[in-house]
Amino acid sequence: MDRRRFGSFSNVPVIGQGTWNLERDDRRSAVAALGRGLDLGMTHVDTAEMYGSGEAEEIVAEAIAGRRDEVFLVSKVLPGNAGKSGTLAACAKSLKRLKTDRLDCYLLHWRESHPLAGTFAAMEQLQKEGKIRAWGVSNFDVADLEEALAIAGPGRIACNQVLYHLQQRGIEHAVLPWCERNGLAVVGYTPFGRGTFPPATPAGRVLADIAAAHGATPRQVALRFLVRRPSLFAIPKASRPEHTADNAGAGALSLSEAELDRIDKAFPRGAPPRSLPML
Ligand SMILES: NC(=O)c1ccc[n+]([C@@H]2O[C@H](COP(=O)([O-])OP(=O)(O)OC[C@H]3O[C@@H](n4cnc5c(N)ncnc54)[C@H](OP(=O)(O)O)[C@@H]3O)[C@@H](O)[C@H]2O)c1
Repeated sequence: MDRRRFGSFSNVPVIGQGTWNLERDDRRSAVAALGRGLDLGMTHVDTAEMYGSGEAEEIVAEAIAGRRDEVFLVSKVLPGNAGKSGTLAACAKSLKRLKTDRLDCYLLHWRESHPLAGTFAAMEQLQKEGKIRAWGVSNFDVADLEEALAIAGPGRIACNQVLYHLQQRGIEHAVLPWCERNGLAVVGYTPFGRGTFPPATPAGRVLADIAAAHGATPRQVALRFLVRRPSLFAIPKASRPEHTADNAGAGALSLSEAELDRIDKAFPRGAPPRSLPML
């Protein structure tokens, strides 16, 4: 599993594990899938207080029991719970559900009406208290990022977690370059998109061809493309151990420039979006 710099961390796996809707799946399988992912180096585990209204965090707690030190654990505060006191309270509840004393990174899930300054003040306080090791944002467009940087100052915001898959490459126009210029890790969510994967199109066949040439799967090829730059991470969600194992295979796959170029042409990034695409 390749690992790379993520904010002030030097060693975060390029492929992690998502947990949205995990509570809808068979619990034993979900716990086993997360555990298999840890075994295979996918130690970046992404969750949120929103997922299953806390149930996903409880499933994560079960999966990481006895293995906390291996995990790069990320959770998120809902915008409705943000602000100074709301963020402090939400973090305490997440830590309790996750049965841990610290998060490695804590994110504002998306931006709503709470002014950023209060939420960021809470993040800084949590970090000073050792309850979080770093903090970041999610679903932030360039204007939000500019405002966030002006409030937080340089080097404080570890990452921006955003929608990114082969059929939605909107972040590549402005958000990704901005994050790269300012040293934020870019964590791509929903890496397999919302439709059928691989798409039953000529573009889907390009993925299948490249996968066959490597003895890999189209999902592994897609994930590898999505982490092809040094700022990028992907967090596929899987509730079945065999899916987790498949996704982990992307962590050591190496694609040539010519192969990356074929994928780039098969799934063009399109025109700049009017606003940041999000789910
Ligand atoms: N910050 C945000 O606003 C935000 C928004 C959305 C998502 N996220 C995060 O990003 C994570 C990933 O996004 P996502 O859950 O929307 O979608 P995703 O990871 O692109 O896709 C998940 C789906 O793909 C299936 N799958 C995964 N690996 C597979 C494999 N190797 N073979 C076949 N099927 C496979 C899963 O099936 P099984 O479960 O049956 O294995 C599940 O149905 C989320 O779980 C969450 O942690 C963040």
